Amino acid sequence: MARYTHLDSPMQLGELQLRNGMVMAPCTRCFCPGFLPTRDMAAYYARRAASGVGLIISEGTVVCQRGSGYPDVPGIWSDGQVRAWRPVTQAVHEAGGRMACQLWHVGAVAHPVTTGGPLPESPSGLSPEGPVRRLRGAHGEALHYGASEAMSATRIKEVVEIFAAAAGRALEAGFDAVEIHGAHGYLIDQFINLSWNMREDEWGGQGRCRLAEDITRAVVAEAGPGRVIFRFSPATGASGKVWKRPTETLPLLLDTLWGAGLRILHASHGNFDAPCVPAELAPLAQASPDGMVPLHAATRAHWQGQIIGVGSLSPGRADEALAAGEVDACAFGRLLIANPDLPSRMRMDLDPRPYDPAMLETLF
Ligand SMILES: Cc1cc2nc3c(=O)[nH]c(=O)nc-3n(C[C@H](O)[C@H](O)[C@H](O)COP(=O)(O)O)c2cc1C
Repeated sequence: MARYTHLDSPMQLGELQLRNGMVMAPCTRCFCPGFLPTRDMAAYYARRAASGVGLIISEGTVVCQRGSGYPDVPGIWSDGQVRAWRPVTQAVHEAGGRMACQLWHVGAVAHPVTTGGPLPESPSGLSPEGPVRRLRGAHGEALHYGASEAMSATRIKEVVEIFAAAAGRALEAGFDAVEIHGAHGYLIDQFINLSWNMREDEWGGQGRCRLAEDITRAVVAEAGPGRVIFRFSPATGASGKVWKRPTETLPLLLDTLWGAGLRILHASHGNFDAPCVPAELAPLAQASPDGMVPLHAATRAHWQGQIIGVGSLSPGRADEALAAGEVDACAFGRLLIANPDLPSRMRMDLDPRPYDPAMLETLF
């Protein structure tokens, strides 16, 4: 990666000493029947590590079956799952890489077929609309999202414990770190977002970031602050709703996470440079004509810790972003699905292969 001197430099992310600041973004692949990662997945991730990716963040890995919303995703709550993950983390380590486990609970974005029977759970009993993604019924028919159950305070506390236990399991399975999935309209984001969270107890209103806070505090206690990443996104995700009141919510969330001991954020937006949040959040950044700034600029303005940036980044743009200190590491999703050898291609100055959704049908 001679041309990419910033992207290709060793760096310290929390406690992790990385060969470089190139991160594989978490990408769900749906190749884990029975919630168990396979040997093919070990080879898939190890190919990316062998080519030189500094840190791989696993595909979303559910912390309990009720938190599952897609077919054949991996889990991290049982001994069998820990055993099945070990060859994956070992293969990545043998290839010189580091790996974080993305801890996931989809909340309302689920169906009794994926949860194993119970209703999906959510802050206030709302549900997304439309057909369930990536899933069909036994006769090939479309399934639709239905009702979800508003979580009791007792269940919320249980879910906090479930995340902490999952973090412990992930370390046992050989992961170097964990990423809390607080983005894209799934459970934690459903609490953060007032379009989803209508609660009037201590988990709603000004307390809307409390679930994120309690999970982060519990996971940090398990893994240590240098091994925990929190991913968030104000933009629309699987639930189809953007954050309400982003100008208040972003500082509230980031201050809360800092107070809970978090030091590494993963600011997720589909396009790193696209306007995303109101310009008041980053008065020094260049605003779009309609008064918006990119997410990374607003994050930098409100966060003392490290930031992973992501979203349609080219290696060249990532290198510039690191040189300018806009973010501390850069994640690539689709480019790394399409190019297991992305770092080698960059070193040889070869253009990456473009991503095609048809590539999701196989693991290569
Ligand atoms: C097939 C696919 C699966 C994804 N799965 C996840 C996931 O499990 N967890 C998550 O946080 N983001 C997920 N994402 C979002 C990516 O991590 C990333 O943020 C997004 O693709 C933008 O980066 P890119 O432009 O480099 O692809 C997924 C994206 C794709 C294309």
